Amino acid sequence: MGHITFKFEEKHKEELTVDIDKGETILDIAIDNNISLHHNCGAVCACSTCHIYIEKGECLLTDMSDKEEDFVDRARYPKINSRLACQCELTEDGDLVVTIPDQSVMIGH
Ligand code: FES
Repeated sequence: MGHITFKFEEKHKEELTVDIDKGETILDIAIDNNISLHHNCGAVCACSTCHIYIEKGECLLTDMSDKEEDFVDRARYPKINSRLACQCELTEDGDLVVTIPDQSVMIGH
């Protein structure tokens, strides 16, 4: 088990830390905790709406596939630490910190 701390670009949202188990994806954890995070393709790595930034703990997650990399490039403001939440599965115990982009300006592809 580990912990994940969600931070938000949207200023009115407060940071949230919750438990995470191996095999769970960051998208699953976000949904389970009522965190607004778009996932327009249904978590099959066919959009970029579940885009997040990994601030800490990248090494605890599944590696990025070529397909994920392709869709990350189409995300709004991709950075070096960008990932798609539905493709980030916890493979080792530890602590993660992620930033959720502003969902109010998310476009649907
Ligand atoms: S929900 Fe579409 S790539 Fe994650």
